[in-house]
Amino acid sequence: MDKFVIRGGNPLVGTVRISGAKNSALPCIAAAILTEDDIVLENIPLVRDMDTERRLLESMGAAVQRPEANAQHLMTISCRSLSDPVARYEIVKTMRASSLVLGPLVARTGMARVAMPGGCAIGGRPIDLHLKGLEKMGAAITQEHGYIEARAERLRGAHIVFDKITVTGTEDLLMAAVMAEGETLMENCAREPEVCDLAALLNAMGAKIEGAGTSTIRVHGVTSLHGAHYRINPDRIEAGTFLIAGAITGGDLIVANCDPAHLGAVIAKLQEAGARVDVLGGDSVRVRGGGKLQGADISTEEYPGFPTDMQAQYMALATQAEGVSLVTENIFENRFMHVQELVRMGANIKVDAKTATVRGPARLSSAAVMCSDLRASASLVLAALVAEGETVIDRVYHMDRGYEHIEQKLSSVGAQIQRLGNLFAPREQAAYMAD
Ligand code: UD1
Repeated sequence: MDKFVIRGGNPLVGTVRISGAKNSALPCIAAAILTEDDIVLENIPLVRDMDTERRLLESMGAAVQRPEANAQHLMTISCRSLSDPVARYEIVKTMRASSLVLGPLVARTGMARVAMPGGCAIGGRPIDLHLKGLEKMGAAITQEHGYIEARAERLRGAHIVFDKITVTGTEDLLMAAVMAEGETLMENCAREPEVCDLAALLNAMGAKIEGAGTSTIRVHGVTSLHGAHYRINPDRIEAGTFLIAGAITGGDLIVANCDPAHLGAVIAKLQEAGARVDVLGGDSVRVRGGGKLQGADISTEEYPGFPTDMQAQYMALATQAEGVSLVTENIFENRFMHVQELVRMGANIKVDAKTATVRGPARLSSAAVMCSDLRASASLVLAALVAEGETVIDRVYHMDRGYEHIEQKLSSVGAQIQRLGNLFAPREQAAYMAD
């Protein structure tokens, strides 16, 4: 398995370019199921989750071109023939967002069989709200042998009020609703920018969606959708991770090609903690560390609140801040897997239920540590960048799910990071865990 070897102590200086958003690309690729025409997506991040979704769609009969490693990062998807509308357990267990194919498959083919996702490193993560919504739209749902089967000759518009805000649930039902008969009104929707990305693609395909980005979305069903070319927005979590990298190392980093409007909560918190953060023009943010960091509390919330996907990285920063920082995780139970590893590196963190108390600044020292999930691995990399000595981080396949060429980007701005092993070696696919 690949490892990172990181020698800490270098301030990061220079410019890094942010890739396309993994969590936008995932639903946008699934949206291709809704049409017989080609969907061309630009700015696809070169991360492992894209490979996983490509394999998922190919297993159903779609033709998917690998994204090219050129400036455009294009992926072309053709779902002309979908001979086998099944998402098999072998793929679903490695990537829980596979359940995003449920809504579009029922809408397009009248039936879907999707393996039930099991437990994962960051909690139970059920999909009951996706199923409840589909049932309201007239689908018959059955569960057998670990698979969910949904059938409907044609879905019909419905009034759906989400019991709880769910990002992929909102996206899944949006894709189900666009070709349903009549109007669908969805309330208590997720307002994440990734939902807006998906809605913009669907509208470019001929859908009629209003209100994406607010908690109420209205969809007027159409009978068919056509091809489209769409550019995926920048990844706000990758951008936020680099902002923290700049701040924690006392560097001077320009995070380019991002959307600062999507980073409001993260920027505000970094400023509160004492980092100097400036939005430069349209798509860049400059972060300068070097001064004293002070403790500041975070509490994860749905967008536009502080993202749960930035909680682990923020905790690494909090270990270097003076005083106490309370880190409260409200979205997922069990999303503190990084804590024990940070503690092994010398951090002072105590967890009580959903709140971690971080006392700093702690002198971090190198240790052999292990990634447990995607964002936990980012927090270990950040900690290693300021730890004394050489930290060896194992199981970086988690990181490869969602960060494009992270070691190249980090070393281009002065980090001492080396990958041991062979990226995307086939033997790793089997060992690859969900989160
Ligand atoms: C998405 C993101 C993930 C992010 C999360 C929260 C993608 C591919 N993944 O995950 O990176 O951490 O949003 O911002 O976009 N829930 C239910 N029933 C459901 C669905 C969800 O109880 O049917 C619960 C979950 O257990 C969790 C909460 O709702 O406690 C939010 O989950 P959700 O927004 O659905 O997360 P994902 O869409 O899986």
